[in-house]
Amino acid sequence: MKIKYLCGVSIILMLSLLYVDPAAQAQESWQASPATVERLSKSRSEFNYYEDKVPAFTLPDVLTTEKGKKVTSPAIWKNIRREEILELFRENVYGRVPATPYTKTFSLINVDKNAMGGAATLKQVDITISSEGKSLVIHLTLFVPNKAEKPVPAFLLINLGSKNIDPLRQLKVESWPAEEIIDRGYAAAAFSNADVDPDNFDDFKDGIHGLLDRGVRQPDAWGTIAAWAWGASRCMDYFETDKDINRKKVAVVGHSRGGKTVLWAGAEDKRFSMVIANESGCGGAALALRRFGETVARINTAFPHWFCSNYKKYRSNEDAMPVDMHMLIALNAPRAVYVTSADEDLWADPRGSYLSLYHAVPVFRLLKTTTNLPETMPPLNKPVISGRLAYHVRDGVHNLLLKDWNWFMDFAEYTWK
Ligand code: GCU
Repeated sequence: MKIKYLCGVSIILMLSLLYVDPAAQAQESWQASPATVERLSKSRSEFNYYEDKVPAFTLPDVLTTEKGKKVTSPAIWKNIRREEILELFRENVYGRVPATPYTKTFSLINVDKNAMGGAATLKQVDITISSEGKSLVIHLTLFVPNKAEKPVPAFLLINLGSKNIDPLRQLKVESWPAEEIIDRGYAAAAFSNADVDPDNFDDFKDGIHGLLDRGVRQPDAWGTIAAWAWGASRCMDYFETDKDINRKKVAVVGHSRGGKTVLWAGAEDKRFSMVIANESGCGGAALALRRFGETVARINTAFPHWFCSNYKKYRSNEDAMPVDMHMLIALNAPRAVYVTSADEDLWADPRGSYLSLYHAVPVFRLLKTTTNLPETMPPLNKPVISGRLAYHVRDGVHNLLLKDWNWFMDFAEYTWK
């Protein structure tokens, strides 16, 4: 009986191995479509979009100190290795925040308890930063759900541009679905990156650089991404004063250059309990050593103001870098990190972004968070959540959409339950 049964099972198994269900096939691990690879390669022929042309490389070991000591405990990570890596990123990639003293004030310039048809309370907060007679204002827009029990968790978006976060909600865009965020019981907050530092190369004269930089600019002086990240921290300073906001549950969200920014914001400021980097690409989650899509050389040429000038040393010289982006993810451990990609956005290297998360896993495990993130990528449009790490590849092009946000909120629900 038993033997017969076993035979039956093995026949079924064999048959199922022979038969490839088309639906199951669609569930396979994500790969770039050959047509997309070809199209993008033609449009930017000096960059690599072919997986088989990715050069061989060895990632710097996230769990070995500069003196060659293995990191075997959370204490060694926290006291030695994390500090080393943080310094390496300050020195070589994003730059150092100056120690210039400044003052900061919060003014509630508008409150509307009946915003979004009564669903939310709108608070418009001016965060004024002053130093030696000069000042700058970060305009923070915050909606708090009226129905939810306080304090509530919040999503803070680093908005690119200025028109997209209309506090009056006449202009609504998918990149900041404030109504949907409120609907799910979270606070929706946003500020524009340009308030902190305009996104142009003017030799660091405008924005917060014009206010806080002193003396001759050093090769490790902060770039614009570090400035935007600093701006996110000033919003966090405000949240800590607002009783409606649960300061232990604040997620910082950014798309593209904003995605690079949030990874660095979370590294520099442990008060963010979740970091969501949407299609952050080169200088964000994507492993630089893969040299797939955008490269260190190209990003430093096209956007000379984003990073510190030391980063330029690694133009076409990635092997000399003492860090790669799995270490940036690791700086956020054991807090929650969500990285995303888009199917047609090979410029931002989906696989390289996923592998960064994967290679940060040993640090999350060392810090006693359970994660079994596999090395293989999930299928298209199927987010993978493993402990504090999450990832998805959405169909379509480079963008931040409601679909992405819904998955972020699912992850938040799972993490903050
Ligand atoms: C460019 C740049 C990317 C960046 C993107 C964006 O495409 O090369 O690195 O992420 O702009 O911010 O939209």
